[in-house]
Amino acid sequence: MSKPRHLKLGAMVHGVGHGWGEWRHPNAQPNASTSFGFYKQQTELAEAAKFDFVFIADSLHIHAKSSPHYLNRFEPLTILSALAAITTHIGLVATVTVSYTEPYQVARQFSSLDHISGGRAGWNVVTSWLSGTADNFGKAEHPPHAVRYRIAKEHVNAVKGLWDSWEDDAFAYNKQSGEFFTPSKLHALNHKGEFFSVKGPLNIARSRQGQPVIFQAGTSEDGRNFAAENSDAIFVHVDSIEEGLAYAQDLKRRAKGFGRDANSLSILPGIRPIVGRDQAEVESRYQQAVDLVTVEDAIVALGRPFNDHDFSKYPLDAPFPELGDLGSNSQKGGSDRIKQLAKDE
Ligand SMILES: Cc1cc2nc3c(=O)[nH]c(=O)nc-3n(C[C@H](O)[C@H](O)[C@H](O)COP(=O)(O)O)c2cc1C
Repeated sequence: MSKPRHLKLGAMVHGVGHGWGEWRHPNAQPNASTSFGFYKQQTELAEAAKFDFVFIADSLHIHAKSSPHYLNRFEPLTILSALAAITTHIGLVATVTVSYTEPYQVARQFSSLDHISGGRAGWNVVTSWLSGTADNFGKAEHPPHAVRYRIAKEHVNAVKGLWDSWEDDAFAYNKQSGEFFTPSKLHALNHKGEFFSVKGPLNIARSRQGQPVIFQAGTSEDGRNFAAENSDAIFVHVDSIEEGLAYAQDLKRRAKGFGRDANSLSILPGIRPIVGRDQAEVESRYQQAVDLVTVEDAIVALGRPFNDHDFSKYPLDAPFPELGDLGSNSQKGGSDRIKQLAKDE
């Protein structure tokens, strides 16, 4: 008999919301994105409701037209460390980019969160799609999409290697003999690759999970291959059950190709539920949310997967503009999807 399967649920705790207008909702707390009280309340609700994890998204570049939540929000590992202390079971998933960090630092941070939380840490691996990020990290240029996934592969492998620096029982703590740790149970990484050079070992004991859970959300060809090879859980944005099934089948086929058990992958499509007592209440709540979005803000939102391209310069009633390969270097999957939709409809 096969084991019963459990539906996995994660809550994306996202301060004042994804869009530009949600903060104006009568029930919204405009400072939610930097309110510990808000994150605490949302996480406690999710834990009480038996959710598997809370998820904190992130990016490292803003400008005056960024959405309210982007403009003013917590650093993921910092807020999750605080939430770890007030929860007991829920998973804690932080977004950290591979394009602007070093594996040693990332391995140490997630290992620390895993120790603090008793084995509840997860890493959402992103490559950063906004080219302006380079300006905040002293880089001459933002790495191209394909290079970012090569960086991701090497970075994640180095982090996973560093997490195994110490064997589970490496620390002997033998006060009698004076043996603090067993030297044969400590391993250097000695990694030298195309982008990173990391000798190791890591300066923290192997954590409760040993290897914290890897999340990712690739939709492009490179992104799907990365997810299929490296991720335990995969976020995806789909518009229909058919599209979700096709994505899941594709990912599982690729995972098998990498020699993995396809059923070990958790594929997590995002939804944004609107809850009401009846259809009319749901419709009215939906309309209230829609009314908070101005056309100007919607146009700014459209530009996001295209590296914040300015769509306000195109006439609103003309056909969708011909964009060439614009977007291919930022959110390739997302921007391709919008272009295709515009062509189809
Ligand atoms: C649910 C979900 C959450 C995501 N969270 C982040 C995030 O916090 N930071 C980020 O830079 N990208 C985030 N992304 C974008 C992905 O990392 C990726 O860039 C995008 O899905 C496009 O895939 P591609 O790089 O394969 O083209 C998210 C995507 C999804 C579907």
